[in-house]
Amino acid sequence: MKKMTTGIAGTILIAATLFVGAAISDKILGDANGETNEAAVKTQIPTTANSQKVVYAPPSIEEVPDGPMKEAILYGYELVNNTHVAADDYVGNQLSCTSCHAGAGYDEQASSLVGVTANYPQYIARSGGIVTIEERINGCMVRSMNGKKFDMNSDELEAMVAYFAYISQGVPIGAEREWAGTSNMKSVPIPDVAHGEELYAQSCIACHAADGSGTGATTGPALWGENSFNDGAGMARMSKMAGYIQNNMPVGAGGTLSDQDAADLAAYILSQDRPEWANHDKDWPKGGRPNDLMNKEKREQVKNGTIDWEQVLSTN
Ligand code: HEC
Ligand code: HEC
Repeated sequence: MKKMTTGIAGTILIAATLFVGAAISDKILGDANGETNEAAVKTQIPTTANSQKVVYAPPSIEEVPDGPMKEAILYGYELVNNTHVAADDYVGNQLSCTSCHAGAGYDEQASSLVGVTANYPQYIARSGGIVTIEERINGCMVRSMNGKKFDMNSDELEAMVAYFAYISQGVPIGAEREWAGTSNMKSVPIPDVAHGEELYAQSCIACHAADGSGTGATTGPALWGENSFNDGAGMARMSKMAGYIQNNMPVGAGGTLSDQDAADLAAYILSQDRPEWANHDKDWPKGGRPNDLMNKEKREQVKNGTIDWEQVLSTN
Protein backbone atom coordinates (compact mmCIF):
# COMPACT_ATOMS: atom_id res chain seq x y z
CA MET A 1 0.00 0.00 0.00
CA LYS A 2 2.71 2.49 0.97
CA LYS A 3 4.36 2.27 -2.46
CA MET A 4 1.16 3.35 -4.20
CA THR A 5 1.67 7.09 -4.12
CA THR A 6 0.46 8.45 -7.40
CA GLY A 7 -2.92 9.62 -8.69
CA ILE A 8 -5.85 7.39 -7.98
CA ALA A 9 -3.79 4.99 -5.94
CA GLY A 10 -3.05 7.79 -3.52
CA THR A 11 -6.79 8.37 -3.09
CA ILE A 12 -7.30 4.70 -2.36
CA LEU A 13 -4.54 4.81 0.24
CA ILE A 14 -6.20 7.71 2.05
CA ALA A 15 -9.62 6.07 1.87
CA ALA A 16 -8.18 2.79 3.08
CA THR A 17 -6.46 4.49 5.99
CA LEU A 18 -9.72 6.11 7.05
CA PHE A 19 -11.57 2.83 6.84
CA VAL A 20 -8.92 0.95 8.79
CA GLY A 21 -8.94 3.68 11.40
CA ALA A 22 -12.70 3.47 11.75
CA ALA A 23 -12.64 -0.31 11.95
CA ILE A 24 -9.97 -0.25 14.65
CA SER A 25 -11.79 2.27 16.81
CA ASP A 26 -14.94 0.14 16.46
CA LYS A 27 -12.92 -2.79 17.67
CA ILE A 28 -11.66 -0.91 20.68
CA LEU A 29 -15.15 0.31 21.58
CA GLY A 30 -16.47 -3.18 20.96
CA ASP A 31 -13.94 -4.63 23.38
CA ALA A 32 -14.81 -2.08 26.01
CA ASN A 33 -18.43 -3.21 25.78
CA GLY A 34 -17.28 -6.79 25.69
CA GLU A 35 -18.99 -7.03 22.34
CA THR A 36 -16.35 -8.65 20.22
CA ASN A 37 -15.99 -12.37 19.72
CA GLU A 38 -12.90 -14.38 18.91
CA ALA A 39 -13.30 -13.52 15.27
CA ALA A 40 -11.32 -10.63 14.15
CA VAL A 41 -9.99 -7.19 14.03
CA LYS A 42 -11.62 -6.44 10.72
CA THR A 43 -10.23 -3.95 8.27
CA GLN A 44 -12.14 -2.62 5.34
CA ILE A 45 -10.08 -1.96 2.26
CA PRO A 46 -11.70 -0.61 -0.89
CA THR A 47 -11.05 -2.82 -3.88
CA THR A 48 -11.43 -0.09 -6.49
CA ALA A 49 -11.73 3.67 -6.37
CA ASN A 50 -15.54 3.55 -6.65
CA SER A 51 -16.38 0.51 -4.63
CA GLN A 52 -15.68 -0.30 -1.01
CA LYS A 53 -17.84 -3.42 -0.98
CA VAL A 54 -16.43 -6.86 -1.55
CA VAL A 55 -18.77 -8.92 -3.67
CA TYR A 56 -19.87 -12.43 -2.75
CA ALA A 57 -18.96 -14.38 -5.89
CA PRO A 58 -17.06 -17.59 -5.11
CA PRO A 59 -16.07 -19.76 -8.09
CA SER A 60 -18.13 -22.95 -8.40
CA ILE A 61 -16.79 -26.30 -7.20
CA GLU A 62 -17.98 -27.69 -10.54
CA GLU A 63 -15.51 -25.46 -12.37
CA VAL A 64 -12.17 -26.02 -10.70
CA PRO A 65 -9.62 -25.52 -13.48
CA ASP A 66 -7.51 -28.49 -14.52
CA GLY A 67 -3.98 -28.40 -13.19
CA PRO A 68 -1.90 -29.43 -10.22
CA MET A 69 -4.19 -27.74 -7.64
CA LYS A 70 -7.37 -29.43 -8.76
CA GLU A 71 -6.92 -32.69 -6.87
CA ALA A 72 -6.12 -30.90 -3.61
CA ILE A 73 -9.08 -28.51 -3.93
CA LEU A 74 -11.53 -31.35 -4.58
CA TYR A 75 -10.07 -33.41 -1.72
CA GLY A 76 -10.40 -30.36 0.53
CA TYR A 77 -14.03 -29.98 -0.49
CA GLU A 78 -14.68 -33.64 0.35
CA LEU A 79 -12.98 -33.23 3.75
CA VAL A 80 -15.13 -30.19 4.60
CA ASN A 81 -18.34 -31.72 3.26
CA ASN A 82 -18.01 -35.21 4.71
CA THR A 83 -15.49 -34.77 7.51
CA HIS A 84 -16.52 -37.51 9.91
CA VAL A 85 -16.16 -40.06 7.09
CA ALA A 86 -13.27 -38.64 5.01
CA ALA A 87 -11.19 -37.90 8.14
CA ASP A 88 -12.71 -40.37 10.58
CA ASP A 89 -9.38 -40.98 12.36
CA TYR A 90 -9.37 -37.34 13.41
CA VAL A 91 -13.01 -36.57 14.11
CA GLY A 92 -14.38 -37.44 17.55
CA ASN A 93 -18.09 -36.97 16.85
CA GLN A 94 -20.66 -37.37 14.07
CA LEU A 95 -20.33 -33.87 12.63
CA SER A 96 -18.91 -32.49 9.42
CA CYS A 97 -17.60 -28.97 8.93
CA THR A 98 -20.69 -28.48 6.77
CA SER A 99 -22.94 -29.28 9.76
CA CYS A 100 -22.33 -25.65 10.78
CA HIS A 101 -20.59 -24.09 7.76
CA ALA A 102 -23.48 -25.09 5.49
CA GLY A 103 -22.86 -26.00 1.87
CA ALA A 104 -19.22 -26.78 2.75
CA GLY A 105 -18.76 -23.11 3.59
CA TYR A 106 -20.42 -21.82 0.40
CA ASP A 107 -23.71 -20.88 2.10
CA GLU A 108 -23.75 -17.12 2.50
CA GLN A 109 -25.69 -17.15 5.78
CA ALA A 110 -24.60 -20.14 7.85
CA SER A 111 -21.07 -19.24 9.03
CA SER A 112 -19.78 -18.77 5.48
CA LEU A 113 -16.14 -19.58 4.81
CA VAL A 114 -16.06 -17.79 1.45
CA GLY A 115 -13.13 -15.35 1.57
CA VAL A 116 -11.84 -16.77 4.84
CA THR A 117 -8.20 -17.06 3.74
CA ALA A 118 -8.19 -13.29 3.12
CA ASN A 119 -8.69 -12.77 6.87
CA TYR A 120 -5.81 -14.91 8.16
CA PRO A 121 -3.39 -14.74 9.89
CA GLN A 122 -5.43 -12.93 12.50
CA TYR A 123 -5.18 -12.08 16.21
CA ILE A 124 -7.66 -14.19 18.14
CA ALA A 125 -8.38 -13.28 21.74
CA ARG A 126 -9.35 -16.82 22.67
CA SER A 127 -5.82 -17.93 21.75
CA GLY A 128 -4.19 -14.71 22.89
CA GLY A 129 -2.03 -14.68 19.77
CA ILE A 130 -1.75 -14.69 16.00
CA VAL A 131 -3.55 -17.62 14.42
CA THR A 132 -2.94 -18.92 10.89
CA ILE A 133 -5.67 -20.47 8.74
CA GLU A 134 -4.16 -23.91 9.45
CA GLU A 135 -4.35 -23.32 13.20
CA ARG A 136 -7.90 -21.99 12.88
CA ILE A 137 -8.99 -25.17 11.06
CA ASN A 138 -7.33 -27.26 13.77
CA GLY A 139 -9.15 -25.14 16.36
CA CYS A 140 -12.47 -26.34 14.90
CA MET A 141 -11.06 -29.90 14.76
CA VAL A 142 -10.39 -30.12 18.49
CA ARG A 143 -13.47 -28.17 19.63
CA SER A 144 -16.35 -28.30 17.14
CA MET A 145 -15.32 -31.76 15.91
CA ASN A 146 -14.23 -32.89 19.40
CA GLY A 147 -11.26 -34.55 17.67
CA LYS A 148 -7.56 -34.29 16.96
CA LYS A 149 -5.43 -31.76 15.11
CA PHE A 150 -4.08 -32.51 11.63
CA ASP A 151 -0.29 -32.41 11.33
CA MET A 152 0.89 -29.12 9.87
CA ASN A 153 2.24 -30.75 6.69
CA SER A 154 -0.52 -33.32 6.32
CA ASP A 155 -2.29 -33.83 3.00
CA GLU A 156 -5.60 -33.17 4.78
CA LEU A 157 -4.67 -29.74 6.09
CA GLU A 158 -3.03 -28.72 2.80
CA ALA A 159 -6.14 -29.80 0.91
CA MET A 160 -8.49 -27.87 3.20
CA VAL A 161 -6.37 -24.74 2.86
CA ALA A 162 -6.27 -25.19 -0.94
CA TYR A 163 -10.07 -25.47 -0.96
CA PHE A 164 -10.58 -22.41 1.26
CA ALA A 165 -8.14 -20.42 -0.90
CA TYR A 166 -10.16 -21.47 -3.95
CA ILE A 167 -13.48 -20.27 -2.53
CA SER A 168 -11.73 -17.08 -1.38
CA GLN A 169 -10.61 -16.06 -4.87
CA GLY A 170 -11.29 -12.43 -5.63
CA VAL A 171 -11.58 -11.40 -1.96
CA PRO A 172 -8.68 -9.03 -1.22
CA ILE A 173 -6.43 -9.62 1.78
CA GLY A 174 -7.86 -7.94 4.87
CA ALA A 175 -11.24 -7.27 3.27
CA GLU A 176 -14.28 -7.17 5.51
CA ARG A 177 -16.53 -10.07 4.53
CA GLU A 178 -19.96 -8.64 5.25
CA TRP A 179 -21.54 -12.06 4.88
CA ALA A 180 -19.40 -13.58 7.63
CA GLY A 181 -20.28 -13.32 11.30
CA THR A 182 -24.01 -12.92 10.66
CA SER A 183 -24.79 -15.92 12.87
CA ASN A 184 -23.94 -14.07 16.05
CA MET A 185 -26.53 -12.46 18.34
CA LYS A 186 -25.16 -9.25 19.84
CA SER A 187 -27.70 -8.90 22.61
CA VAL A 188 -29.26 -12.17 23.77
CA PRO A 189 -32.58 -11.91 25.69
CA ILE A 190 -32.92 -13.70 29.06
CA PRO A 191 -34.03 -17.20 28.02
CA ASP A 192 -36.89 -19.40 29.18
CA VAL A 193 -35.48 -22.94 29.06
CA ALA A 194 -38.87 -24.68 29.48
CA HIS A 195 -40.26 -22.74 26.52
CA GLY A 196 -37.14 -23.71 24.54
CA GLU A 197 -37.90 -27.36 25.23
CA GLU A 198 -41.45 -26.95 23.88
CA LEU A 199 -40.24 -25.18 20.75
CA TYR A 200 -37.61 -27.82 20.22
CA ALA A 201 -40.26 -30.56 20.28
CA GLN A 202 -42.39 -28.63 17.80
CA SER A 203 -39.84 -27.43 15.27
CA CYS A 204 -36.56 -29.30 15.54
CA ILE A 205 -36.93 -32.99 16.37
CA ALA A 206 -37.85 -34.02 12.82
CA CYS A 207 -34.23 -33.45 11.81
CA HIS A 208 -32.27 -33.30 15.09
CA ALA A 209 -34.11 -36.09 17.02
CA ALA A 210 -35.86 -35.79 20.39
CA ASP A 211 -32.67 -36.71 22.27
CA GLY A 212 -30.53 -34.24 20.27
CA SER A 213 -28.46 -37.02 18.71
CA GLY A 214 -29.43 -35.95 15.21
CA THR A 215 -30.30 -37.77 12.00
CA GLY A 216 -27.00 -37.22 10.16
CA ALA A 217 -24.22 -34.65 9.68
CA THR A 218 -25.95 -33.12 6.66
CA THR A 219 -29.62 -33.86 7.40
CA GLY A 220 -29.75 -32.80 11.05
CA PRO A 221 -26.48 -32.86 13.00
CA ALA A 222 -26.17 -33.87 16.66
CA LEU A 223 -26.92 -30.86 18.86
CA TRP A 224 -25.89 -32.43 22.16
CA GLY A 225 -24.61 -35.71 23.58
CA GLU A 226 -21.40 -37.58 22.78
CA ASN A 227 -21.67 -37.06 19.00
CA SER A 228 -21.89 -33.29 19.20
CA PHE A 229 -19.33 -30.48 19.61
CA ASN A 230 -17.55 -30.07 22.93
CA ASP A 231 -18.08 -27.17 25.32
CA GLY A 232 -14.91 -25.39 24.15
CA ALA A 233 -16.49 -24.77 20.73
CA GLY A 234 -17.76 -21.35 19.64
CA MET A 235 -21.20 -22.89 19.27
CA ALA A 236 -21.23 -23.58 23.03
CA ARG A 237 -21.67 -19.85 23.57
CA MET A 238 -25.20 -18.45 23.91
CA SER A 239 -24.46 -15.58 21.48
CA LYS A 240 -23.32 -17.93 18.71
CA MET A 241 -25.88 -20.68 19.25
CA ALA A 242 -28.82 -18.26 19.50
CA GLY A 243 -27.52 -16.29 16.50
CA TYR A 244 -27.03 -19.42 14.43
CA ILE A 245 -30.54 -20.69 15.21
CA GLN A 246 -32.18 -17.32 14.52
CA ASN A 247 -30.31 -16.83 11.26
CA ASN A 248 -30.46 -20.36 9.83
CA MET A 249 -32.98 -22.67 11.52
CA PRO A 250 -35.23 -24.47 10.85
CA VAL A 251 -33.52 -25.20 7.53
CA GLY A 252 -35.46 -23.46 4.77
CA ALA A 253 -37.03 -20.97 7.20
CA GLY A 254 -33.98 -19.13 8.57
CA GLY A 255 -34.73 -15.69 10.00
CA THR A 256 -38.31 -16.54 11.01
CA LEU A 257 -37.75 -17.20 14.74
CA SER A 258 -37.70 -14.23 17.10
CA ASP A 259 -34.52 -13.51 19.06
CA GLN A 260 -36.39 -14.57 22.19
CA ASP A 261 -37.40 -17.95 20.75
CA ALA A 262 -33.89 -18.52 19.42
CA ALA A 263 -32.43 -17.69 22.86
CA ASP A 264 -34.90 -20.08 24.54
CA LEU A 265 -33.89 -22.85 22.14
CA ALA A 266 -30.17 -22.12 22.58
CA ALA A 267 -30.50 -22.25 26.37
CA TYR A 268 -32.36 -25.56 26.20
CA ILE A 269 -29.80 -27.11 23.82
CA LEU A 270 -26.77 -25.80 25.71
CA SER A 271 -28.07 -27.01 29.07
CA GLN A 272 -27.90 -30.63 27.86
CA ASP A 273 -24.80 -32.77 28.42
CA ARG A 274 -22.00 -32.70 25.84
CA PRO A 275 -18.30 -33.58 25.69
CA GLU A 276 -16.11 -31.41 27.89
CA TRP A 277 -13.17 -29.35 26.63
CA ALA A 278 -10.12 -30.08 28.76
CA ASN A 279 -8.33 -26.74 28.31
CA HIS A 280 -10.83 -24.07 29.37
CA ASP A 281 -8.24 -22.58 31.72
CA LYS A 282 -5.83 -21.93 28.83
CA ASP A 283 -8.36 -20.00 26.70
CA TRP A 284 -8.40 -16.18 26.70
CA PRO A 285 -4.94 -16.07 28.36
CA LYS A 286 -4.81 -12.28 28.03
CA GLY A 287 -8.30 -11.64 29.38
CA GLY A 288 -11.65 -10.95 27.76
CA ARG A 289 -13.17 -14.36 28.57
CA PRO A 290 -16.89 -14.19 27.74
CA ASN A 291 -19.43 -15.27 30.35
CA ASP A 292 -21.84 -16.83 27.86
CA LEU A 293 -19.88 -20.04 27.37
CA MET A 294 -22.06 -22.88 28.68
CA ASN A 295 -19.59 -25.15 30.46
CA LYS A 296 -20.44 -28.00 32.83
CA GLU A 297 -20.83 -25.69 35.82
CA LYS A 298 -23.44 -23.59 34.00
CA ARG A 299 -25.27 -26.67 32.72
CA GLU A 300 -25.56 -27.83 36.34
CA GLN A 301 -26.83 -24.41 37.37
CA VAL A 302 -29.60 -24.61 34.77
CA LYS A 303 -30.60 -28.02 36.12
CA ASN A 304 -30.70 -26.92 39.75
CA GLY A 305 -32.26 -23.54 38.99
CA THR A 306 -29.41 -21.36 40.24
CA ILE A 307 -28.21 -19.94 36.93
CA ASP A 308 -27.89 -16.15 36.78
CA TRP A 309 -28.73 -15.48 33.13
CA GLU A 310 -28.13 -11.77 33.45
CA GLN A 311 -24.57 -12.46 34.48
CA VAL A 312 -24.13 -15.13 31.79
CA LEU A 313 -25.37 -12.77 29.08
CA SER A 314 -23.61 -9.66 30.34
CA THR A 315 -20.63 -9.90 28.00
CA ASN A 316 -22.00 -10.67 24.56
C1 HEC B 1 -20.50 -27.09 15.70
C2 HEC B 1 -20.36 -26.10 14.67
C3 HEC B 1 -19.06 -26.06 13.86
C4 HEC B 1 -18.43 -27.08 13.20
C5 HEC B 1 -18.85 -28.51 13.13
C6 HEC B 1 -17.24 -26.50 12.60
N1 HEC B 1 -17.19 -25.17 12.86
FE1 HEC B 1 -15.81 -23.86 12.15
N2 HEC B 1 -16.68 -22.37 13.21
C7 HEC B 1 -17.82 -22.49 13.98
C8 HEC B 1 -18.11 -21.22 14.62
C9 HEC B 1 -19.28 -20.94 15.54
C10 HEC B 1 -17.08 -20.35 14.22
C11 HEC B 1 -16.87 -18.90 14.65
C12 HEC B 1 -17.62 -17.97 13.80
C13 HEC B 1 -17.67 -16.64 14.48
O1 HEC B 1 -16.87 -16.39 15.38
O2 HEC B 1 -18.55 -15.87 14.12
C14 HEC B 1 -16.22 -21.09 13.32
C15 HEC B 1 -15.10 -20.54 12.68
C16 HEC B 1 -14.33 -21.21 11.74
C17 HEC B 1 -13.29 -20.60 10.94
C18 HEC B 1 -12.91 -19.14 10.99
C19 HEC B 1 -13.92 -18.36 10.22
C20 HEC B 1 -13.67 -16.89 10.16
O3 HEC B 1 -14.47 -16.21 9.48
O4 HEC B 1 -12.73 -16.38 10.77
C21 HEC B 1 -12.79 -21.58 10.14
C22 HEC B 1 -11.67 -21.43 9.12
C23 HEC B 1 -13.50 -22.79 10.44
N3 HEC B 1 -14.45 -22.53 11.40
C24 HEC B 1 -13.27 -24.00 9.83
C25 HEC B 1 -13.92 -25.18 10.18
C26 HEC B 1 -13.56 -26.46 9.64
C27 HEC B 1 -12.48 -26.71 8.61
C28 HEC B 1 -14.39 -27.37 10.22
C29 HEC B 1 -14.39 -28.86 10.06
C30 HEC B 1 -13.10 -29.50 10.31
C31 HEC B 1 -15.29 -26.64 11.12
N4 HEC B 1 -14.96 -25.32 11.07
C32 HEC B 1 -16.30 -27.21 11.85
C33 HEC B 1 -18.60 -23.62 14.12
C34 HEC B 1 -18.28 -24.86 13.64
C1 HEC C 1 -35.46 -29.79 7.87
C2 HEC C 1 -34.47 -30.27 8.80
C3 HEC C 1 -34.06 -29.34 9.95
C4 HEC C 1 -34.88 -28.75 10.88
C5 HEC C 1 -36.39 -28.81 10.99
C6 HEC C 1 -33.98 -28.06 11.80
N1 HEC C 1 -32.68 -28.23 11.43
FE1 HEC C 1 -31.03 -27.54 12.39
N2 HEC C 1 -29.86 -28.28 10.93
C7 HEC C 1 -30.30 -28.98 9.84
C8 HEC C 1 -29.19 -29.21 8.92
C9 HEC C 1 -29.26 -29.94 7.60
C10 HEC C 1 -28.07 -28.59 9.50
C11 HEC C 1 -26.66 -28.52 8.91
C12 HEC C 1 -26.40 -27.16 8.34
C13 HEC C 1 -27.16 -26.92 7.06
O1 HEC C 1 -27.06 -27.71 6.12
O2 HEC C 1 -27.92 -25.92 7.03
C14 HEC C 1 -28.52 -28.05 10.78
C15 HEC C 1 -27.68 -27.41 11.68
C16 HEC C 1 -28.09 -26.95 12.93
C17 HEC C 1 -27.21 -26.42 13.93
C18 HEC C 1 -25.69 -26.32 13.82
C19 HEC C 1 -25.06 -27.69 13.95
C20 HEC C 1 -24.78 -28.16 15.35
O3 HEC C 1 -24.49 -29.38 15.52
O4 HEC C 1 -24.79 -27.37 16.29
C21 HEC C 1 -27.99 -26.03 14.98
C22 HEC C 1 -27.53 -25.41 16.27
C23 HEC C 1 -29.36 -26.32 14.64
N3 HEC C 1 -29.39 -26.90 13.37
C24 HEC C 1 -30.46 -26.08 15.44
C25 HEC C 1 -31.78 -26.29 15.04
C26 HEC C 1 -32.93 -25.89 15.83
C27 HEC C 1 -32.87 -25.24 17.19
C28 HEC C 1 -34.04 -26.24 15.10
C29 HEC C 1 -35.49 -25.99 15.46
C30 HEC C 1 -35.87 -24.58 15.53
C31 HEC C 1 -33.59 -26.83 13.88
N4 HEC C 1 -32.21 -26.84 13.88
C32 HEC C 1 -34.42 -27.33 12.90
C33 HEC C 1 -31.57 -29.43 9.61
C34 HEC C 1 -32.69 -29.00 10.31
